[in-house]
Amino acid sequence: MRLVKEVGFYLSQEFYHYNPARLPAPAEWVNVRRVRVKDSVNVVWWLSKTQNPKADNRKVLRPYSQSMQTLLKNGYKAKLRPSGHDISDKFSRDNGGAIPPNLLELSNTDSNSRYQQLCREHGIKVHPARFPPQFAEFFITFLTDEDAVVFDPFGGSNTTGLVAERRMRRWFITELSEEYLKGSKLRFLDEGASTADTEAFSESASRQADLLPLFPAIE
Ligand SMILES: C[S@@+](CC[C@H](N)C(=O)[O-])C[C@H]1O[C@@H](n2cnc3c(N)ncnc32)[C@H](O)[C@@H]1O
Repeated sequence: MRLVKEVGFYLSQEFYHYNPARLPAPAEWVNVRRVRVKDSVNVVWWLSKTQNPKADNRKVLRPYSQSMQTLLKNGYKAKLRPSGHDISDKFSRDNGGAIPPNLLELSNTDSNSRYQQLCREHGIKVHPARFPPQFAEFFITFLTDEDAVVFDPFGGSNTTGLVAERRMRRWFITELSEEYLKGSKLRFLDEGASTADTEAFSESASRQADLLPLFPAIE
Protein backbone atom coordinates (compact mmCIF):
# COMPACT_ATOMS: atom_id res chain seq x y z
CA MET A 1 0.00 0.00 0.00
CA ARG A 2 2.85 2.39 0.73
CA LEU A 3 4.44 1.66 -2.65
CA VAL A 4 1.20 2.75 -4.28
CA LYS A 5 0.16 5.57 -1.95
CA GLU A 6 3.55 7.10 -1.18
CA VAL A 7 5.77 6.17 -4.13
CA GLY A 8 3.10 6.46 -6.81
CA PHE A 9 3.18 2.99 -8.37
CA TYR A 10 0.05 1.36 -9.78
CA LEU A 11 -0.74 -2.24 -8.92
CA SER A 12 -1.27 -3.72 -12.38
CA GLN A 13 -1.82 -7.29 -11.25
CA GLU A 14 -1.08 -9.64 -8.39
CA PHE A 15 0.70 -12.91 -9.21
CA TYR A 16 1.41 -15.99 -7.15
CA HIS A 17 4.54 -18.09 -7.45
CA TYR A 18 3.79 -21.63 -6.33
CA ASN A 19 6.87 -23.74 -5.67
CA PRO A 20 5.72 -27.34 -5.17
CA ALA A 21 9.24 -28.36 -4.15
CA ARG A 22 9.59 -25.79 -1.37
CA LEU A 23 11.01 -27.24 1.84
CA PRO A 24 8.65 -27.27 4.83
CA ALA A 25 8.93 -24.04 6.80
CA PRO A 26 8.78 -22.67 9.42
CA ALA A 27 10.21 -25.98 10.67
CA GLU A 28 9.14 -25.51 14.30
CA TRP A 29 5.47 -25.17 13.35
CA VAL A 30 5.38 -27.49 10.34
CA ASN A 31 7.79 -30.34 11.17
CA VAL A 32 8.06 -30.29 14.95
CA ARG A 33 4.70 -29.17 16.32
CA ARG A 34 2.82 -30.20 13.12
CA VAL A 35 0.28 -27.43 13.55
CA ARG A 36 0.77 -25.61 10.21
CA VAL A 37 1.15 -26.77 6.62
CA LYS A 38 3.98 -25.96 4.20
CA ASP A 39 4.28 -22.36 3.08
CA SER A 40 4.82 -22.70 -0.68
CA VAL A 41 3.40 -19.60 -2.35
CA ASN A 42 5.05 -16.23 -2.83
CA VAL A 43 2.96 -13.21 -3.68
CA VAL A 44 4.34 -11.15 -6.56
CA TRP A 45 3.21 -7.60 -7.20
CA TRP A 46 3.46 -6.29 -10.71
CA LEU A 47 3.82 -2.58 -9.98
CA SER A 48 3.95 -0.08 -12.81
CA LYS A 49 4.75 3.58 -13.31
CA THR A 50 1.63 4.18 -15.43
CA GLN A 51 -1.89 2.77 -15.41
CA ASN A 52 -1.33 1.13 -18.78
CA PRO A 53 2.16 -0.34 -18.81
CA LYS A 54 3.32 -2.10 -21.95
CA ALA A 55 2.51 -5.82 -21.84
CA ASP A 56 1.48 -8.52 -24.28
CA ASN A 57 0.12 -11.84 -23.09
CA ARG A 58 0.47 -13.26 -26.61
CA LYS A 59 4.20 -13.48 -25.92
CA VAL A 60 3.73 -15.86 -22.99
CA LEU A 61 1.10 -18.26 -24.30
CA ARG A 62 1.19 -21.81 -22.94
CA PRO A 63 0.52 -25.01 -24.91
CA TYR A 64 -3.19 -25.81 -25.05
CA SER A 65 -4.47 -28.55 -22.72
CA GLN A 66 -5.23 -31.95 -24.21
CA SER A 67 -8.98 -31.29 -24.06
CA MET A 68 -8.61 -27.93 -25.81
CA GLN A 69 -6.48 -29.54 -28.53
CA THR A 70 -9.21 -32.15 -29.05
CA LEU A 71 -11.83 -29.41 -29.17
CA LEU A 72 -9.83 -27.46 -31.76
CA LYS A 73 -9.41 -30.62 -33.84
CA ASN A 74 -13.01 -31.81 -33.71
CA GLY A 75 -14.77 -28.47 -33.55
CA TYR A 76 -17.10 -27.21 -30.86
CA LYS A 77 -20.88 -26.83 -30.98
CA ALA A 78 -21.91 -23.72 -29.07
CA LYS A 79 -24.28 -24.72 -26.28
CA LEU A 80 -25.22 -23.84 -22.73
CA ARG A 81 -22.92 -25.23 -20.04
CA PRO A 82 -24.50 -27.01 -17.03
CA SER A 83 -23.96 -23.73 -15.16
CA GLY A 84 -26.16 -21.94 -17.71
CA HIS A 85 -23.12 -20.09 -19.07
CA ASP A 86 -23.37 -19.53 -22.82
CA ILE A 87 -20.09 -20.39 -24.53
CA SER A 88 -19.85 -19.03 -28.04
CA ASP A 89 -18.21 -20.83 -30.95
CA LYS A 90 -15.31 -18.35 -30.63
CA PHE A 91 -13.92 -20.98 -28.28
CA SER A 92 -13.00 -23.13 -31.23
CA ARG A 93 -10.57 -20.54 -32.61
CA ASP A 94 -6.91 -21.50 -32.39
CA ASN A 95 -5.07 -18.51 -30.92
CA GLY A 96 -1.72 -20.26 -30.85
CA GLY A 97 -1.85 -21.19 -27.17
CA ALA A 98 -3.58 -20.68 -23.86
CA ILE A 99 -3.40 -17.41 -21.94
CA PRO A 100 -1.48 -18.17 -18.75
CA PRO A 101 -3.00 -17.63 -15.32
CA ASN A 102 -1.51 -15.38 -12.65
CA LEU A 103 -0.34 -18.50 -10.82
CA LEU A 104 3.20 -19.43 -11.84
CA GLU A 105 4.02 -22.99 -10.86
CA LEU A 106 7.79 -23.21 -10.86
CA SER A 107 9.98 -25.49 -8.79
CA ASN A 108 13.43 -24.47 -7.76
CA THR A 109 15.09 -27.85 -7.54
CA ASP A 110 18.27 -26.93 -9.35
CA SER A 111 21.10 -28.13 -7.11
CA ASN A 112 23.87 -28.75 -9.61
CA SER A 113 23.84 -25.90 -12.10
CA ARG A 114 26.94 -24.56 -13.81
CA TYR A 115 26.64 -21.47 -11.60
CA GLN A 116 26.81 -23.60 -8.47
CA GLN A 117 29.67 -25.70 -9.78
CA LEU A 118 31.71 -22.61 -10.68
CA CYS A 119 30.98 -20.97 -7.31
CA ARG A 120 32.20 -24.10 -5.52
CA GLU A 121 35.32 -24.25 -7.71
CA HIS A 122 36.12 -20.62 -6.86
CA GLY A 123 35.28 -20.88 -3.17
CA ILE A 124 32.45 -18.36 -3.56
CA LYS A 125 29.25 -18.72 -1.54
CA VAL A 126 26.35 -19.94 -3.65
CA HIS A 127 23.42 -17.55 -3.36
CA PRO A 128 20.89 -19.28 -1.08
CA ALA A 129 17.69 -17.66 -2.41
CA ARG A 130 17.91 -17.68 -6.19
CA PHE A 131 14.68 -17.67 -8.07
CA PRO A 132 14.04 -20.05 -10.96
CA PRO A 133 15.13 -18.60 -14.34
CA GLN A 134 11.63 -19.23 -15.72
CA PHE A 135 10.32 -16.68 -13.24
CA ALA A 136 12.45 -13.89 -14.73
CA GLU A 137 11.80 -15.29 -18.18
CA PHE A 138 8.04 -14.91 -17.80
CA PHE A 139 8.04 -11.24 -16.81
CA ILE A 140 10.87 -10.19 -19.12
CA THR A 141 9.11 -11.77 -22.10
CA PHE A 142 5.64 -10.58 -21.11
CA LEU A 143 6.61 -6.98 -20.37
CA THR A 144 9.57 -6.05 -22.56
CA ASP A 145 10.81 -6.20 -26.15
CA GLU A 146 14.29 -6.91 -27.43
CA ASP A 147 16.83 -4.23 -26.53
CA ALA A 148 14.76 -2.97 -23.56
CA VAL A 149 16.61 -2.26 -20.31
CA VAL A 150 15.84 -4.60 -17.40
CA PHE A 151 16.84 -3.52 -13.89
CA ASP A 152 16.86 -5.78 -10.84
CA PRO A 153 17.52 -3.78 -7.65
CA PHE A 154 17.97 -6.96 -5.58
CA GLY A 155 20.14 -8.80 -8.06
CA GLY A 156 21.47 -11.65 -5.89
CA SER A 157 23.10 -14.20 -8.20
CA ASN A 158 21.79 -12.21 -11.19
CA THR A 159 19.34 -14.74 -12.58
CA THR A 160 17.58 -11.69 -14.06
CA GLY A 161 20.65 -10.50 -15.97
CA LEU A 162 21.39 -13.94 -17.35
CA VAL A 163 17.85 -14.40 -18.65
CA ALA A 164 17.72 -10.81 -19.96
CA GLU A 165 20.95 -11.35 -21.88
CA ARG A 166 19.68 -14.59 -23.40
CA ARG A 167 16.50 -12.79 -24.40
CA MET A 168 18.49 -9.99 -26.07
CA ARG A 169 17.62 -7.34 -23.49
CA ARG A 170 20.12 -4.98 -21.86
CA TRP A 171 20.29 -5.19 -18.08
CA PHE A 172 21.85 -3.95 -14.89
CA ILE A 173 21.51 -4.92 -11.26
CA THR A 174 22.37 -3.65 -7.82
CA GLU A 175 23.27 -6.01 -4.99
CA LEU A 176 24.45 -5.42 -1.42
CA SER A 177 26.77 -8.40 -1.18
CA GLU A 178 30.06 -8.24 -3.05
CA GLU A 179 30.42 -12.00 -2.76
CA TYR A 180 27.11 -12.60 -4.54
CA LEU A 181 28.23 -10.23 -7.29
CA LYS A 182 31.45 -12.18 -7.73
CA GLY A 183 29.47 -15.39 -8.07
CA SER A 184 27.02 -13.74 -10.45
CA LYS A 185 29.82 -12.81 -12.82
CA LEU A 186 30.71 -16.48 -13.21
CA ARG A 187 27.35 -16.95 -14.92
CA PHE A 188 28.66 -15.10 -17.94
CA LEU A 189 31.73 -17.20 -18.61
CA ASP A 190 31.87 -18.95 -21.95
CA GLU A 191 31.07 -22.63 -21.68
CA GLY A 192 34.56 -23.45 -23.00
CA ALA A 193 36.52 -21.09 -20.71
CA SER A 194 39.69 -22.59 -19.22
CA THR A 195 40.42 -22.62 -15.49
CA ALA A 196 42.99 -19.85 -16.01
CA ASP A 197 40.34 -17.74 -17.70
CA THR A 198 37.87 -18.26 -14.88
CA GLU A 199 40.48 -17.34 -12.26
CA ALA A 200 41.32 -14.12 -14.08
CA PHE A 201 37.63 -13.40 -14.38
CA SER A 202 36.97 -13.92 -10.71
CA GLU A 203 39.97 -11.72 -9.85
CA SER A 204 38.57 -8.90 -11.98
CA ALA A 205 35.22 -9.34 -10.27
CA SER A 206 36.79 -8.34 -6.98
CA ARG A 207 37.51 -4.88 -8.33
CA GLN A 208 33.82 -4.29 -8.98
CA ALA A 209 34.60 -1.05 -10.78
CA ASP A 210 32.10 -1.88 -13.48
CA LEU A 211 29.34 -2.83 -11.05
CA LEU A 212 29.52 -0.21 -8.31
CA PRO A 213 28.24 2.36 -7.63
CA LEU A 214 25.54 2.73 -10.25
CA PHE A 215 23.12 4.52 -7.96
CA PRO A 216 25.19 6.17 -5.24
CA ALA A 217 22.20 8.25 -4.16
CA ILE A 218 20.02 5.24 -3.36
CA GLU A 219 20.43 4.17 0.25
C1 LIG B 1 16.01 -12.96 -2.72
S1 LIG B 1 17.57 -12.37 -3.12
C2 LIG B 1 17.47 -12.17 -4.86
C3 LIG B 1 17.86 -13.42 -5.58
C4 LIG B 1 17.88 -13.26 -7.06
N1 LIG B 1 16.57 -13.02 -7.60
C5 LIG B 1 18.50 -14.50 -7.69
O1 LIG B 1 17.83 -15.24 -8.42
O2 LIG B 1 19.67 -14.77 -7.40
C6 LIG B 1 17.57 -10.70 -2.57
C7 LIG B 1 18.92 -10.03 -2.66
O3 LIG B 1 18.76 -8.65 -2.38
C8 LIG B 1 19.94 -8.19 -1.75
N2 LIG B 1 19.60 -6.94 -1.09
C9 LIG B 1 18.90 -6.75 0.06
N3 LIG B 1 18.77 -5.43 0.32
C10 LIG B 1 19.37 -4.77 -0.70
C11 LIG B 1 19.55 -3.40 -1.01
N4 LIG B 1 19.08 -2.45 -0.21
N5 LIG B 1 20.21 -3.08 -2.15
C12 LIG B 1 20.68 -4.04 -2.97
N6 LIG B 1 20.56 -5.36 -2.73
C13 LIG B 1 19.90 -5.72 -1.61
C14 LIG B 1 20.34 -9.34 -0.86
O4 LIG B 1 21.73 -9.31 -0.55
C15 LIG B 1 19.95 -10.56 -1.69
O5 LIG B 1 21.05 -11.07 -2.41
